[in-house]
Amino acid sequence: MSFLQGYNDDLRLAHIMADSVDDQTMSRFKALDLRVETKPDLTPVTDADKSAEEAIRGQLSRARPRDAVLGEEFGSTGSGTRRWVIDPIDGTKNFVRGVPVWATLISLIDDGRPVVGVVSAPALGKRWWAAEGTGAYTGKSLAAAQRLRVSNVSRLADASLSYSSLSGWRERGALAEFVNLTDRVWRTRAYGDFWSYCLVAEGAVDIACEPELNLYDMAALVPIVTEAGGRFTSLDGKDGPHGGNALATNGTLHSEVLRTLNPDVDDLL
Ligand code: IPD
Ligand code: CA
Ligand code: CA
Ligand code: CA
Repeated sequence: MSFLQGYNDDLRLAHIMADSVDDQTMSRFKALDLRVETKPDLTPVTDADKSAEEAIRGQLSRARPRDAVLGEEFGSTGSGTRRWVIDPIDGTKNFVRGVPVWATLISLIDDGRPVVGVVSAPALGKRWWAAEGTGAYTGKSLAAAQRLRVSNVSRLADASLSYSSLSGWRERGALAEFVNLTDRVWRTRAYGDFWSYCLVAEGAVDIACEPELNLYDMAALVPIVTEAGGRFTSLDGKDGPHGGNALATNGTLHSEVLRTLNPDVDDLL
């Protein structure tokens, strides 16, 4: 474990990998010959998703040969306490339709803690990043970094909430609780995917939540939200990424949101 020396070298490597993949994914965005397949779960995957993950895996095998890797498109390789977790394109449905809200998510989990997260959204000209203990930042490059800070909104009635889709809430049997939450906040928008969580870190949105997410959808977002002063847990309050779902808030609103989503549970964290 490299807790004492920190994770600056790993963060730098994540930026280098994001830089090289940005050029690659941008060259395929809106490409007339983009190849789109349908996965067994009926979601789309493109040649850009696959080649971005391959490129990151190639760089990791040279720069961090002993670390394990988990990626959405090529699964899990290696073992050990340090694991890089990659979502080569988060927002593939946007990517295939020419909507610029998609990003490459690169994270490092050490001993179970997500300690580095980089979210690179080249079509938006945006990047967000964090390493444990050093704060969360946004900017076009490391040199042009601006510190991120969550909002100080303290009442649900003043809060802005963002999510991705309604279907998962229905499948979870929690649609009524989610709708109740949306009734109690000031404004609800479906910014979707990584975007909702990065907006929480920026202080532009106060609550982001999702009933169905994989580790690679969330791992990079956890340090970005928490280092910006927010809280990231599962929908039942366990520190995230946990349980295949996510709730990120500015921290101040977290308990009230948990109580609204879990009205029958007494011992929420
Ligand atoms: C999707 C996004 C979306 C979530 C889906 C994911 P992808 O990721 O994270 O917000 O609702 O469950 O599959 O497939 O675009 O990387
Ligand atoms: Ca994803
Ligand atoms: Ca993906
Ligand atoms: Ca996918």
